This record gives sequence, C-alpha cells and structure tokens, in this order.
Amino acid sequence: MPDTAFPLTRVTTVASLQSAVAGFREDGARIAFVPTMGALHEGHLALVRHAKTRADKVVVSIFVNPLQFAPTEDLDRYPRNEAGDIALLQSVGCDLVYLPTVDVLYPQGFVSRIEMKGPALGLETDFRPQFFSGVATVVMKLFNQVRPDLAVFGEKDFQQLAVVRAMVRDFDLGIDIVGYPTMREADGLALSSRNAYLSPEQRAAAPKLHAALEAIRSVVLAGGDAEVAIATAKADLTAAGFGQIDYIALRDAETLGEVRAGKPRRLLAALWLGKTRLIDNIAV
Ligand code: PAF
Repeated sequence: MPDTAFPLTRVTTVASLQSAVAGFREDGARIAFVPTMGALHEGHLALVRHAKTRADKVVVSIFVNPLQFAPTEDLDRYPRNEAGDIALLQSVGCDLVYLPTVDVLYPQGFVSRIEMKGPALGLETDFRPQFFSGVATVVMKLFNQVRPDLAVFGEKDFQQLAVVRAMVRDFDLGIDIVGYPTMREADGLALSSRNAYLSPEQRAAAPKLHAALEAIRSVVLAGGDAEVAIATAKADLTAAGFGQIDYIALRDAETLGEVRAGKPRRLLAALWLGKTRLIDNIAV
C-alpha cells in the first residue's frame, strides 16, 4: 500500500536531489527512476506503481524539456499541473519528486547534445528531427543526477524506449531499463497527456487508430501483405476524419529497422487529429 502518511519530498536543485538520494543509498535502498514531463495520468501512475514493485525507493522527475520541442511545437501549450501531479504521486507512494527548472538542467553555457543513430533514425525523426537528441540529452542528464538502479519508461513511446536502451548500452550506464505496457482507455485509445487537447468529436474518433493497428496485425498474422494492410488502414483513417498520417510502419522491435525473419516486430504509427498528434504502437 502506498504510504500517504508522509508528505512526498520535493527537490528542485541537483544538490538537494543528490543529498536525498544519498540518504536512500545509506539505508541500502534500490532506487527506481521515472522521468516525466508532468500532466500525469493513469499511464504515468502505472509506471510509478510498477517501479515500486522493483525497487525500495522511487524518484520521479517532472520537467517539460525544451530541447525536445521544435520551435513550431507545443512547448508553451504543453499541459502543466504541478499541484495535481504532486497529489497523484503522493497517492501512489512516490518517495521523491524532482522539479528542476530549465536553468537547473541547462545552465548558461550548456553546449552538449547526445546525437544518436540506430533506433533514433526514421519514424519520429523524419517528422521531429530534434526530438531524440533532446530526449537523449535530458535523460542522460537526469540519469547522471539521479543515478538510479533502474528506470521505467512506457512502451507508448516505443521508439524513445529503444533509443534510451541503446544509449544506456552504448555509454555503459549500468541502469536497468524497464519497458511498461501502454495503458489504454476502455475503447482502446492509448493514454496520453495530449489527449486533453481533443474535442469531443476528435475524442470519439481517436480510438480508430488503435483499431486500425489491430486490423493490420490480424492481416499480417494471417500471412497477408503488410503494405497492403497499411494502405487500407490509412484510407480508413482518412475517411474517419484523421488528418496527415506521418507514418504507419512495421519494424523490427529491437532495432526499429527493417523486419528480420524470426525476430519480434512492432507496428508503429503517428498521425494527426485536428491540431493534435497521436502516436501508438503494438507488438505483431
Ligand atoms: O516521455 C517523456 O515524457 C519524455 O520524453 C521524457 C522521457 C521525460 C524526457 O523528457
């Protein structure tokens, strides 16, 4: 049961974060970390609950990372609800929340970037070229500040999970990266902070994305042609009112490159509904 009798400890500076984590370490605690951009929903809480089952102490960061937004993207519009987020974190027994400002993470003179190839190529990068450099840079910083034993990421951002795994492997960070299955509404829509932007009509149409991915999977598993099934799904989604389809692609689940015989596959999609960009993915 979450311990709600004690207030959740909040820290905003690297020194106070590291002092709190050192206190956990002195007690011999195994530490799990869940990085977030706030606007927490049940999907994030599931990550924290899972982290609690894998470690003694759970640290959550809330930081809307400007490096992963393009100038044209929704950085200023990104939902923020610090008080609500803290109450939710307390309700699931989070031990420490780290709330750095932009100046704390990127002080004046900060000039470094992590640039990756491999799973960072294609898909999201074709449409958001700066995205994984921004994600990898902030995750590397947060990992170095928190120094957790393990970190939990949602499979909803499947390419991000693959990028973080590759970074941890390549830089010998020694952090166990745990992927947690996507949480969905009863109608199949993947939980996302951006769902808050959908109008009632768009919200009613949104689950068709997951249904379309399921339909493609059925065709592929029955031995049908993936490209034909994807083309059919794209036409159905357009007819259902979706806007630009950035991609729907069947990829190798580990490398996110071309599918390999006998290896797990992942079907990934990103598309627009009005001014909101939705992403989703499923195992095939
Ligand atoms: O998935 C997210 O919320 C963000 O990309 C992350 C991992 C917190 C980095 O800013």
